[in-house]
Amino acid sequence: MTKSHKVFEIFPEESQIPEKYRLNTRIEQKIFLVDGESRKWDGPVQEVFSPVCIRKHDTVEQKYIGSYPLLTQKESLEILNSAIKAYSNGYGEWPTMSVEERIRHVELFVEKMRKKRDEVVALLMWEIGKTLKDSEKEFDRTIDYIIDTIEALKVIDRNSSRFVIESGIIAQIRQAPLGVVLCMGPFNYPLNETFATLIPALITGNAVIFKPPKLGVLLHYPLLEAFQQSFPKGVVNTVYGAGQKVVAPLMSSGNIDVLAFIGSSRVADILKSQHPKPHRLKCILGLEAKNAGIILDDAELESTVRESVVGTLSYNGQRCTALKILFVHQSIASKFINKFCEAVDRLNFGMPWEDNVNITPLPEKDKPAYLQSLVDDALNLGAGIVNKYGGSINKTFFSPAVLYPVTPQMKIYSKEQFGPVIPVVPFEDIDEPLSYIRDSDYGQQVSIFGQDPDIIAKLIDPLVNQVCRVNVNSQCQRGPDTFPFTGRKDSAEGTLSVSDALGVFSIRTLVAAKQTEMNKRIISTIVRERSSKFLSTDFIL
Ligand code: G3H
Repeated sequence: MTKSHKVFEIFPEESQIPEKYRLNTRIEQKIFLVDGESRKWDGPVQEVFSPVCIRKHDTVEQKYIGSYPLLTQKESLEILNSAIKAYSNGYGEWPTMSVEERIRHVELFVEKMRKKRDEVVALLMWEIGKTLKDSEKEFDRTIDYIIDTIEALKVIDRNSSRFVIESGIIAQIRQAPLGVVLCMGPFNYPLNETFATLIPALITGNAVIFKPPKLGVLLHYPLLEAFQQSFPKGVVNTVYGAGQKVVAPLMSSGNIDVLAFIGSSRVADILKSQHPKPHRLKCILGLEAKNAGIILDDAELESTVRESVVGTLSYNGQRCTALKILFVHQSIASKFINKFCEAVDRLNFGMPWEDNVNITPLPEKDKPAYLQSLVDDALNLGAGIVNKYGGSINKTFFSPAVLYPVTPQMKIYSKEQFGPVIPVVPFEDIDEPLSYIRDSDYGQQVSIFGQDPDIIAKLIDPLVNQVCRVNVNSQCQRGPDTFPFTGRKDSAEGTLSVSDALGVFSIRTLVAAKQTEMNKRIISTIVRERSSKFLSTDFIL
């Protein structure tokens, strides 16, 4: 079958789906977690359709895979009260628990989570169309993230398990929790990016309300029991529904202490503005990006093409870190375009479970039409689709389109596409891509492709002041998760990495006393009798 033909016959009949990847039972979620219980819900629900369509006779339709609760303001406020009660202004069982005990709860959760791997991976494929390989990677990466977080917290705790004596003052300095944290993750990494804030928020002693992204809810369902069984009452709560109905009441109550949100800056701004006490709200935000790849005239073509393909098209380009615009030096533009298009056209289109599949259907309902509008706009303004199979649409599927030559007048030049459309801009003067980055609203990462150390060095120095990661002959990416992940301008607020995250969900707090005999006696007694969890020299082994 030719590739262009494949687009039109991409969706399988039910009987063509391998038995082991069929979703035999629909997930009709009728519960939410509140106050330590799995509360029944018999109100309205949101139906969930997979980006994967099923062919039946002459029709092709998105597969119905289940539903989840559409809660109202009433439940949302009950959930908030559950978290407030669990935290109890810092007096609660969870925030006053020792770090070692909290770690044990998280370890118990990981043990239970591991057993749900197959279910979660299957739902990642069906709910957001991520390939089997990437879905497995997302699950395993999340487990590793939790384990690394535990290890990082142990190191912090060990370093804090001693007293400091300075200028006649004895002190013990530790991390203390902040309160009630609202965690909201994105659809493209619904598990990993939600847990990248949820787990550090939890393990540092906060009470958490977590709202899964609109696309990517059901995959959390198999884990709800593990949450319920692993943590004290009210420490983990879940909320589902329309943002205006369930998130606005949380924010406007003024009782959310930390907002951890990965999504658009538009929504982040709305959420922040709903909070009546902005200076009390701490925000950890991962927002839009339009990372550029700069391909210099001496770039080594083979590796540049390889990194550009994975950089632009992993998970169909639906990564905040994706390369979303390529600037290529005029002198090698045609060579690069030929090789790049050949590589893009070699990618396999198909269903998430297929072997070696690269490009899969898109979960966002209006995405193919939006991408089409960006392509049409570029074509009207003089660009062409330069790869063979670019821009064909079949329902939720959009085949990757390479647009060339792209100019500043085109929408794709500045709009974040978050999908498989790749704008390529030829340049003569290096100031063209540099001023693009300087003038951009975003400032997450950049990739430079070239071989001359002097030229690369001269680009690194200004670029590190524009973005937060400069990748040399490598695609943009978040990982490894121990590296700091952040952005400037409208791309982020706060820094996440395994250890940074522990810092952002807690605050350095100390107990201090003048070094008098009386104080020495009091502190020694507390430590000896282990009557405080904070003031303690216990060392986690
Ligand atoms: O969508 C943004 C993700 O944090 C990107 O992570 O670079 O590891 O794919 P990644």
